[in-house]
Amino acid sequence: MIKLVLALLCLTMVVQCKPYYRFKTSVSEKAMHKCHTGHRDLSPRCHEYRTKISDYSKYPKLPANCSTIEWEFANETNNWGNCFAMTTDGEFRYITANNVPDFYMNLYCPIGVGFGYCVKAEIESGTCMFPNLTCGADNGPGSMKYGDVWIPFEGNYKIPLKGNPTRSDRPGDMYDAETVGGEKNIGPSTGVAINGIGIQGPNDAGDVSIDEADIQLACGGHVTPPLGNIPPGPEPGPAGPPLYHFHKSPECLAPFKNASIGVDHGAKPYQHAQLMGWAMDGFKIFSYQDVGGAAPVVDQCGGHFGPTDTGEIEYHYHSRQIVPYHLACQGPSLGNCAETQRGTNFCHPGCGAEVCVQPGTSEAALRAYLSQWDPTWLDKYTTNDYKPEDQKSKDDSSIKTDQALKKALENLLDNIFKS
Ligand SMILES: *[C@@H]1O[C@H](CO)[C@@H](O)[C@H](O)[C@H]1NC(C)=O
Ligand SMILES: *[C@@H]1O[C@H](CO)[C@@H](O)[C@H](O)[C@H]1NC(C)=O
Ligand SMILES: *[C@@H]1O[C@H](CO)[C@@H](O)[C@H](O)[C@H]1NC(C)=O
Ligand SMILES: *[C@@H]1O[C@H](CO)[C@@H](O)[C@H](O)[C@H]1NC(C)=O
Repeated sequence: MIKLVLALLCLTMVVQCKPYYRFKTSVSEKAMHKCHTGHRDLSPRCHEYRTKISDYSKYPKLPANCSTIEWEFANETNNWGNCFAMTTDGEFRYITANNVPDFYMNLYCPIGVGFGYCVKAEIESGTCMFPNLTCGADNGPGSMKYGDVWIPFEGNYKIPLKGNPTRSDRPGDMYDAETVGGEKNIGPSTGVAINGIGIQGPNDAGDVSIDEADIQLACGGHVTPPLGNIPPGPEPGPAGPPLYHFHKSPECLAPFKNASIGVDHGAKPYQHAQLMGWAMDGFKIFSYQDVGGAAPVVDQCGGHFGPTDTGEIEYHYHSRQIVPYHLACQGPSLGNCAETQRGTNFCHPGCGAEVCVQPGTSEAALRAYLSQWDPTWLDKYTTNDYKPEDQKSKDDSSIKTDQALKKALENLLDNIFKS
């Protein structure tokens, strides 16, 4: 009833009301909490977020040697064992990859040779699921004397070609694929990098971020514990032999390396960062820099509106050196990121407004982008001060009056319905 009255008020007044936000995810509250808090057991982590693969014929096929390649036989000649293929139809991109990185990976033990696989928080709370697993011992495929190495695993991702920032269920759960029509067979991936490696959330295990856990990552990634020999294993994928994945920014990939070379060596430090991956919601993820070499002004999810390296304006995420590393939620955040978290809150304060736009972005171009879905969407939210100096119109004062009026009306309505 209250909603109906509000809706009528919105219609009759000049006020642009915000669409009613209802958080949506495709898994149960319990499964969400487990995944977001890095809960581990002997099943694949975040496995409830895996979806059905509806039609394998849509996905590209990989050559047979992609699933048999071993770490010892990977080198520059065979692109370090990496296989990645992508096709698109009118609506989605379909990715098949073997989850082998396209660079050299060191032998890996999270805590050291002769030590285990649980982080301090798990040991202290008695929730370590594999107390007898020792790095460097024979733990089945992928385990070696001085640490673990990747084992190929075929990953499949179906991702919308174009994200829609005006969906009424935004922000969304960072791990969710189904709500936006996507598919994936690796539950904890929030996206996939341009080399086919899954990008996982900011935490690893025990409700702590990868940095808080003191886990050192080379090129932002590592392998899962070798659980191939532990009952109920071996199961292929994340609960079986070691699976390589990223948490942090993969700084050894070209989009990062190219931004970090010296000017004398051909660096382009004033350009917008290049594409490093795709989030499950269809928005692109770029490396660090924004236009002109500026820092990206992002929202609570880690995304914003603005031009990319092609000059095209779109909502997109940026990789960064601190949590959430990639995205904390599927944006735009609209001030509601915290509602998408379950457990540790990885949202950042953002730009201070509901919608974050990179300073210097043309309002007309931004409106043209949004008008594909809803020409009035931008007016329903607060934005940061982003307009280029020469485009700040004299009617800014009237906008301020509008916003003050809107705020007063909102307060009035709040008071009416609270009492
Ligand atoms: C690189 O790997 C390929 C394929 O496993 C192998 O045939 C070749 O001998 C390797 N090259 C070197 C220098 O080890
Ligand atoms: C698979 O074989 C092809 C053809 O010889 C080769 O180009 C490719 O590098 C190989 N891939 C792997 C992962 O070994
Ligand atoms: C770990 O090893 C100890 C001693 O061998 C054994 O008593 C215990 O049941 C093992 N725990 C697990 C979870 O396998
Ligand atoms: C990075 O730089 C190298 C060398 O200049 C170039 O070949 C490559 O295309 C660049 N990568 C990207 C993603 O632009």
